[in-house]
Amino acid sequence: MATIPVLPDALSPAARAFCERDHGLLIAGEFVPAADGATFETRDPATGNAIAAVAQAGAADVDAAVAAARAAFAPAAPWRTMPAAGRSAAIWKLADLLEQHADELAQLESLDNGKPVKFARHVDVASSVAHLRYFAGWPTKIEGATLPISAPNVHAYTRQVPVGVCGQIIPWNFPLLMAAWKIAPALAAGCTIVLKPAEQTPLTALRLGELALEAGIPPGVLNVLTGDGATGAALVEHPDVDKIAFTGSTAVGREIGAVAGRGLKRVTLELGGKSPNIILPDADVEAAVKGSFAGLYFNSGQACNAASRLMIPEPMFDEVVGALAQAAEATVTGPGLAPDTFVGPLVSAEQHERVSGFIASGRDEAQLVAGGATTLEGHAGGYFVEPTLFTTSDDDARIVREEIFGPVLVAQPYDSLEEVAERANAGEYGLAAGVWTRDVSNAHRLASLLRAGSVYVNCWSVGDPSAPFGGFKSSGIGREHGREGLSAYLENTSVFVQL
Ligand code: NAI
Ligand code: MG
Repeated sequence: MATIPVLPDALSPAARAFCERDHGLLIAGEFVPAADGATFETRDPATGNAIAAVAQAGAADVDAAVAAARAAFAPAAPWRTMPAAGRSAAIWKLADLLEQHADELAQLESLDNGKPVKFARHVDVASSVAHLRYFAGWPTKIEGATLPISAPNVHAYTRQVPVGVCGQIIPWNFPLLMAAWKIAPALAAGCTIVLKPAEQTPLTALRLGELALEAGIPPGVLNVLTGDGATGAALVEHPDVDKIAFTGSTAVGREIGAVAGRGLKRVTLELGGKSPNIILPDADVEAAVKGSFAGLYFNSGQACNAASRLMIPEPMFDEVVGALAQAAEATVTGPGLAPDTFVGPLVSAEQHERVSGFIASGRDEAQLVAGGATTLEGHAGGYFVEPTLFTTSDDDARIVREEIFGPVLVAQPYDSLEEVAERANAGEYGLAAGVWTRDVSNAHRLASLLRAGSVYVNCWSVGDPSAPFGGFKSSGIGREHGREGLSAYLENTSVFVQL
């Protein structure tokens, strides 16, 4: 039975009007209800209240969306006959529209996900715009080559062609930004898309789909299906999908990789992490504390590349841990729409329960130094977790090995550089790693020893649409961003012409 949505007073008229609309599935340029009429509610993580009902796509809707994407990919379809410069202009226009609606999008993101609205505006929306603009530059630069082959009188060349219909499945931690990361290179390559946002945060992807139509991206090129894991699984299994791009949990990524493998679909996977962040004895301690704090507690720790495992030289351990505990206690935890909030609620009751479970096991296997509360006074019903800090020297502790995905930092002492590199590399993941030092040779030495897709020196989570992003080991397969990210949406054809 549907409940009546409750929207916070802080919401702007534009964001409120969007929430109050009917939210269909975007298929072939039209917003339509699910074939079986199913819907689900999305909630405000600060209160637990329902904020909107959206359509729940089933197998028939996946069929319809894939058929629309296939039709939009036909050789004579407008998207395929559009010159490369036309694709550039349309993607750039979409970026402009995101910028024009930045405040509305930031509010919707904050309301649906729980994140502080100032970060939604200046990180999520701003980075989404930058990502689209970067990839808007690519269509006119996708070049083949002529080949000096040995056969006489044969003119040989390559063509870089779009991979086809792409199923893109994204998580809830940066809903709009993950959508931008996925659609921008696919559009630049000339592919068509069925995008499935996470069931916890469906709103901004629907708005993005609408703005894409306004930007002149032809109907059927970007289809948006709201739904859950079953919707995602149906998309992965669909025989007419050429490529799957996924960001989410390692468990689901393994499953998707296996299904895509059987179907011989192209696949890129951006999965979990447990990223070591190493302070060296000569580091600027103040900068290291500040950067390590933000590296983990930003987005309430709900980032695949969160700086979740801090490694500190034994002689400075107490000083650094003390400073971090102080910072954690001084941090403002609250609703995302409140202007002073730094740590917002977790995205869902499920994640709240999961992170609470890690805090409970941390209390058994490690020392609790700050935080630990899983409720916030005056905010019953919200999914709040206090910024929490544990210490332990046990590398086998669950909170040291596993991805927590919440505002829970674990700090560990170490003795030598070789030892710390080996321990940092020992885990299952390899998404990101960090080093804080003033010694340039130690910085490069560690950067070469650490097995991770991104290494941050004296910073954390600096990123750019031009810089490849992705993981080693269980953190995934392939890279997003830059030339490498684009190439995941291209196939090569070699053409041989006997003269
Ligand atoms: P999830 O991996 O289940 O969900 C991510 C997306 O995949 C959602 O759109 C979901 O509907 C879809 N999905 C779920 N099952 C699927 C299936 N069998 N086939 C196709 N699509 C499917 O992640 P969840 O349950 O929301 O979070 C669990 C944990 O995953 C988190 O605690 C965190 O550790 C990790 N995670 C990592 C993320 C990252 O950025 N790498 C993002 C979100 C979660
Ligand atoms: Mg939600």
